[in-house]
Amino acid sequence: MPAEEGPGETRPASPDEVRRAAELREIIARHDHLYHVRDAPEVTDAVYDRLFAELLSLEAAHPGLADPDSPTQRVGGAPAEGFAEVVHEVPMLSLANAFEESGVADFDRRVRERLGLAEGEEVEYAAETKLDGVALSLRYEHGRLAVAATRGDGARGEDVTANVRTVRSIPLRLAGDGFPERLEVRGEVYLPLDRFERLNEEQRMRGEREFVNPRNAAAGGLRQLDPRATRSRRLMFFCHGAGRADGIPSAATHRGLLRRLDEWGLRVSPDVRVVRGVAGCVAYYREIEARRERLGYQIDGVVYKVNRLEDQHRLGSVARAPRWALAHKFPAEEAVTRLLDIDVQVGRTGSLTPVARLSPVFVGGVTVTNATLHNQDEVARKDVRVGDRVVVRRAGDVIPQVLRAVDPESRAPGAPRFEMPAECPVCGAPAVRAEGQSATRCTAGLRCPAQRKEAIRHFASRRAMDIEGLGEKLVDQLVETGLVGTVADLYRLEDRREQIAALERMGELSTKNLLAGVKKSRGLPLPRFLYALGIPDVGEATAGALARHFGKLFRVREADEAALAEVRDVGPVVAAHVVAFFEANRGAVDDLMVEAGPAPVPVERPDGGGEAAEPLPLAGEVVVLTGALAAMTRDDARERLEALGAKVQGSVSKRTTLVVCGENPGSKRDRAEALGVRTLDEAGLLELLEGG
Ligand code: IVH
Repeated sequence: MPAEEGPGETRPASPDEVRRAAELREIIARHDHLYHVRDAPEVTDAVYDRLFAELLSLEAAHPGLADPDSPTQRVGGAPAEGFAEVVHEVPMLSLANAFEESGVADFDRRVRERLGLAEGEEVEYAAETKLDGVALSLRYEHGRLAVAATRGDGARGEDVTANVRTVRSIPLRLAGDGFPERLEVRGEVYLPLDRFERLNEEQRMRGEREFVNPRNAAAGGLRQLDPRATRSRRLMFFCHGAGRADGIPSAATHRGLLRRLDEWGLRVSPDVRVVRGVAGCVAYYREIEARRERLGYQIDGVVYKVNRLEDQHRLGSVARAPRWALAHKFPAEEAVTRLLDIDVQVGRTGSLTPVARLSPVFVGGVTVTNATLHNQDEVARKDVRVGDRVVVRRAGDVIPQVLRAVDPESRAPGAPRFEMPAECPVCGAPAVRAEGQSATRCTAGLRCPAQRKEAIRHFASRRAMDIEGLGEKLVDQLVETGLVGTVADLYRLEDRREQIAALERMGELSTKNLLAGVKKSRGLPLPRFLYALGIPDVGEATAGALARHFGKLFRVREADEAALAEVRDVGPVVAAHVVAFFEANRGAVDDLMVEAGPAPVPVERPDGGGEAAEPLPLAGEVVVLTGALAAMTRDDARERLEALGAKVQGSVSKRTTLVVCGENPGSKRDRAEALGVRTLDEAGLLELLEGG
């Protein structure tokens, strides 16, 4: 008879319970691996949570079952006083860099020479992404994670084992068999971009300092004295090599070595590829560069490694870098330069935007001289002042931004803060900032030449009226010479051929093209026309909703705020903008109607009146698109979904009915899953669009 349990006393686990605990650990470790390493979960969070809870309660009831490698131990132990030192058995080297193709060619030539290859014989390289994270060494002993250490100075680093145990893409035990008794794995700890953004949002909400970049946030996360703080940062890991490769059975190549590591449950980048010669390396570089923005984590280049391990061994190392590897870096996305001045530009809806004038600086592959500072609050938050040295960022095609001052403490005392002017810098009308809004606006409306130019540019833009031949500089000239005052004037330019042809950089042919472009834009569908008007806050989706709801332009114009607010997605702010716009621009819109009125559209009238059509097949669906699609752009997908009656929105909410996930969908998919919203992959989307 087992003794009765009293408080604080525990009964030893029965053989069944011992077996169940071991089984649960194995099952949970497998699901951890599928979720965090393979990105291919097999069970729902609820199922996982149930298994986890069962194991937790077993372990709580029977302290004898304790196991430091149990998945329940990933929660992080007690805070440490500091980090112990770890001496790296094999030094952690760095990489030689190249920024140009010529550097890659030089590297390849040196490799071929040293290996004594014949003319024309190509080297095989393993090409990988170069993660912009924090280097980490993991020592497994008999398949168990024994020590995790930072790179430090390359010879000795810090023992961060307790923290690393909370990183779920790092196995506490290796899977399968055949691993050497001692295995040192090397890789990179990083913070995915969506987590980085969320982390900074939390920092902002708490009124704490934001992290400068994901690498700093990851490094800080790894060096938390309290492992629970590391855990909450939810770091990830990719491995890219081993400290000792020679002990690994049957791996003759770097690629083979990574495959072994993958089999043992470690996370290897899916973008490793074996390429040949300089041409293969450069093609890989270009491919990754093109996909860089969609990876979901930061990389700062690619790495080429001589694939055959024996060749690596023969090549050896020089100083602090191996001769068999090269980092081919992308142009830096951040650079430091001097802030020369802050100008204020006037946008389409009259918003005043502070623009930084910079001492020219090469960043993100181009020379940048201007960068946006968004609005008054942004300048205040960043507290950058004329004369400061500032960090400028230009990533991909995103417009350059000023991030922060490098050393605000060292600026001259009394350097003035930026103040938004009280008048529009273009027309001199009062500029006001409405309560609760971030934008300061010029109050002159289309009387302001700057707004007029922007309104015309927007009207002519590709997604609006798509008037070919009407470029930015031409709009400036047309407005400045008085040839065009309102968009309707564009349609009366026929009679002004000579004056147009006489403008700078214009001639007979470009005049003819312009007039043809204008003519072609007559009679476009109502949604395009409404969007082209440039009503504040009325984007394409809202324009489409208004067009479908009211059917005719005059009905939209006559609608009061209450009628407008009946349109799905139109709230009081947008309704007020629409009413105010038509009030202020009645004459101009009438005029435009006569010259270039829109074509009538079939409408879905909710009251069943008017030109009621069949309800569209996707009416009522609220769709969010995320990740990259292969067969079409997201804009195309949106157009096609909207044409079938769906609403397409930017973020997932309780009203979302469907989330389409392309490649690397990111946090929107997580959110959809959390809310139980249906998701579709690209194939499913195509089926849907084709009426499936
Ligand atoms: S191999 C001996 N592969 O870049 C070769 N390193 O700038 C050592 N890194 O310290 C590294 N991605 O922390 C290698 N695919 C990759 C990498 C990578 C990022 C880091 C690594 C290294 C640093 C050198």
